[in-house]
Amino acid sequence: MAILLTGGAGYIGSHTYVELVQAGYDAVIVDNFYNSCPDVIERLKAITGKPVTYYDVDVCDRKALEKVFLNHTFDAVIHFAGYKAVGESVAKPLAYYRNNLDSTFALCDAMQAHGVSRFVFSSSATVYGLAETVPLTETMPTGCTNPYGWTKYMIEQVLRDIAVAHPDWAVALLRYFNPIGAHESGTIGEDPVGLPNNLMPFITQVASGKLAKLRVFGNDYDTPDGTGVRDYIHVVDLARGHVAACRYLLSHTGCEVFNLGTGLGVSVLELIHTFERVNNIPIPFDVVERRPGDIATCYADASKAKTVLDWEASLTLEDMCRDSWRWQSQNPKGYRA
Ligand code: UFG
Repeated sequence: MAILLTGGAGYIGSHTYVELVQAGYDAVIVDNFYNSCPDVIERLKAITGKPVTYYDVDVCDRKALEKVFLNHTFDAVIHFAGYKAVGESVAKPLAYYRNNLDSTFALCDAMQAHGVSRFVFSSSATVYGLAETVPLTETMPTGCTNPYGWTKYMIEQVLRDIAVAHPDWAVALLRYFNPIGAHESGTIGEDPVGLPNNLMPFITQVASGKLAKLRVFGNDYDTPDGTGVRDYIHVVDLARGHVAACRYLLSHTGCEVFNLGTGLGVSVLELIHTFERVNNIPIPFDVVERRPGDIATCYADASKAKTVLDWEASLTLEDMCRDSWRWQSQNPKGYRA
């Protein structure tokens, strides 16, 4: 079974590549390395012990994408490629809508032209917007607070509509919670370009001395210790969720939404203290103002994925902290060493 991974060189894409290959699938990567590094390819080869088939192609480039589809017979597509920085999306909405939507349209067109009808989409818990009750279930109302989130929301709707119009299509919309951690080899991981956007890359950069102090965005939320609560999931568990979704799509049609999280809420302070304990490194921090747009608490009800996909997260917060640090300490400059 051959699977196309758009954005397969990125953080979640690269870990999914490894899990797919280890589960016996043929995986083909399309990535323009806009937000990833070509060095990841050699590392994927080292981890899997197999040559890596990849194309340096922008998914929006329809001619180039057509050539990829002519070279392979895909059974399914996993669409990771896309712009993903919340703050940047507020400053550059048009670029986000154009890139994230057009790449999806180009991909769906190519799939239709080549009779490929199984689609796994990288969605996000961001589509739950300012939801005030937790845990979040797939049937809860959706709505977003920034253009990045709206692109995920809109693409979900596009795929739902395609699945209605084409009953042979099988679509899994995977709503990720907060992926952290890295492959246990320490050779692939999250490599943010410039200043990180998310908490764990900030923690690891403070641990390495690259940044002096962490800023904790608010300790006056209505949570047990006042800091924001999120559902952190090990990226390898998340990657395995994609393998489970591909397996599911082989024998189902229609469109289904799945939360991929652990179902556990962890506060910023809990994450900092777990990291300090597991790695024996102090993380100095200052509590500062709340970050605009942040909600107090966000964690998944992950029971649907367990029941329907036979998947659940198994790695612990300790595993996530240890593996994030192994990646950062072995690759202080990321892939660009
Ligand atoms: N935080 C800090 N200091 C930092 C960075 C983050 O205290 O330097 C806090 C935030 O306030 C929040 C928590 O750490 O309480 C997690 O923040 P992240 O930025 O790591 O993650 P978010 O939950 O804000 O956002 C993530 C993804 C988005 C996605 C969203 C949906 O980054 O792409 O989850 O759930 F849209």
